[in-house]
Amino acid sequence: MTEQALLPKFEADLALELVPVVEEAAIASARTMGEGDRDKSDRVAVQAMRQAFEQIAFAGNIVIGEGERDKAPMLYIGERVGTPPEGTACAEVDIAVDPLEGTNLCALGTPNAISVLAASEKGGLLHAPDCYMDKIVAGPACRGSLDLDAPVEENLKEIARCLDRRVQDLVIVVLDRPRHEKLIEEIRKAGARIRLIPDGDLSAGIAAAVRGAGVHAVMGIGGAPEGVITAAAVRCLHGAMVGRLVVDTPELEERIVGMGIRDPRRVYSARDLAPGRNIVFAACGVTDGALLRGVRFFGQGCRTHSLVLTMSVNKVRFMDTVHMETPPGPRGIRIN
Ligand code: FBP
Repeated sequence: MTEQALLPKFEADLALELVPVVEEAAIASARTMGEGDRDKSDRVAVQAMRQAFEQIAFAGNIVIGEGERDKAPMLYIGERVGTPPEGTACAEVDIAVDPLEGTNLCALGTPNAISVLAASEKGGLLHAPDCYMDKIVAGPACRGSLDLDAPVEENLKEIARCLDRRVQDLVIVVLDRPRHEKLIEEIRKAGARIRLIPDGDLSAGIAAAVRGAGVHAVMGIGGAPEGVITAAAVRCLHGAMVGRLVVDTPELEERIVGMGIRDPRRVYSARDLAPGRNIVFAACGVTDGALLRGVRFFGQGCRTHSLVLTMSVNKVRFMDTVHMETPPGPRGIRIN
């Protein structure tokens, strides 16, 4: 069977198989919620995610993970995950993971921490370096209208026009960082409303790509790995995104070129960042958020809330799962 013939099956089957991977990472890190130890929250998420991958009969290759092999003991770039079935040809799957997106959010018990991954056929996700990326993310109506080189006010006018509303009616999410002082000033001057977030521009990007989440765009500089995973979700949601790596030192430029990126200052679209024909995106809430509820623990287990997106199969699934550690008591499983 050719790789192409495997692809639709890859998306449909793998989407469901990957949900437990983000669920397990979310459950493990949610147990540490509020402990104030971000490293521990991240570590347990990574361990749980790695173990869960082992249960899947596939040949996964981490292309965006916890960093280089010498710095990350697990889920490092180039690590093989999954248990390929013996004696059967198995399509290779590239995987980008962020076992705990919003480590501080989890450590402090604040909203919007998620466990997340994206998967695609080999070559379907940009191997982005662990640096910053300047991004604008918005919904499908804004496709083709976002311009990283245009003044902030012009982008806001375009977004407002595409969404058939006034600039004053827009809500723009920005990471609360000193580097965004000028951006924030310009958004305020243009008259749009701002939601400053302490962390988590990935889940904010998903919120901007759908309708009804009360967010119209995400603007500013966040992580490049988060940018690629956001792009995978944005492609499944047919949203709009532009991004450009922030290359601020000659050493970084050299590293980027060494990774095979010919033009480090290129402006990428969502399709450039996640060019795969088949894409699976899965996220599970760790703490409560705008899109996903956090993990809720009860006597005999816990309950998780996940989002699963697929591109060619065109599905947006919310999954509400009760995980039972022990059989339920005489009163049964609570479902609401
Ligand atoms: P972590 O979960 O790795 O801590 O990332 C959280 C985050 O806020 C991302 O959502 C965002 O892209 C990035 O960090 C921004 O980086 P910085 O905190 O260095 O500004």
